Amino acid sequence: MDFIEILNTRTSVPPKILVEPAPDPEQLALFLSTALRAPDHGAIQPWRFHVVRGDARAKLGELFAQALLKREPDAPEAAVAKERLRPSFAPLAIVVGAQITTDNPGVPPVEQIVSTGAAIQNIMNAAHASGYATFLSTGIRARDAHIKRAFGFGETDELVGFLYIGTPKSRQSVKPRPDPMLFITQWTGPFASPPVRHIGRAGGRGTTPRRRAGRAMRQGQTLRWRWPRRGAAPERGFHPAARR
Ligand SMILES: Cc1cc2nc3c(=O)[nH]c(=O)nc-3n(C[C@H](O)[C@H](O)[C@H](O)COP(=O)(O)O)c2cc1C
Repeated sequence: MDFIEILNTRTSVPPKILVEPAPDPEQLALFLSTALRAPDHGAIQPWRFHVVRGDARAKLGELFAQALLKREPDAPEAAVAKERLRPSFAPLAIVVGAQITTDNPGVPPVEQIVSTGAAIQNIMNAAHASGYATFLSTGIRARDAHIKRAFGFGETDELVGFLYIGTPKSRQSVKPRPDPMLFITQWTGPFASPPVRHIGRAGGRGTTPRRRAGRAMRQGQTLRWRWPRRGAAPERGFHPAARR
């Protein structure tokens, strides 16, 4: 696969479908080196990565279970047991956080979190390029002070996500994405009114949104634009890392 194809075929695979092998420490170090290529305004270096594998996954599960009991002392035993098991589905997890610097007004927290998100995406693509699949998850655990503290994150820091990595145990389809054209305008100046609502019928009956959008772009028409609804369907393929 060339680089663009790698980017265009990454797809998340849920932790329950991820099995060994996970990347070994040497491969993982390589993936993490790509994380540090994320754009880093002000050289803040906000990214923090905690690698959790082997028996440490059970400790993370215990932490999740205890955190649930702190949040909901009457949580049903089944829910607590589920929390205990949660990190053990995938062979490897990386707990990713942003240690936020607040004394640089030129680089607000959102930029540091965006940088950490970009770091995560680089790991996901590096893993994908090497035949692994990943899944990023947050949920209430990412905002739980007890869990954040266990990874050394303070109140102003962000636990950005739990990134699970492994090999898909079955063939996985690549999730479809809508046509990129639907998300793009060729901006040529301020919108006369808020960007709008409707691509219109520039191409007439029977033309596809892609054709209409393409024609609108070529003609520099941006004023009758409608951002897409969710759920348009492009081509399907299969995850190249899946075992066949
Ligand atoms: C920051 C972030 C947090 C997420 N948290 C969860 C989560 O807690 N649970 C979940 O099922 N999906 C979560 N997702 C979505 C999945 O990681 C994944 O993106 C989604 O299933 C769509 O798959 P795709 O990445 O192949 O489009 C999260 C995504 C992002 C970007």
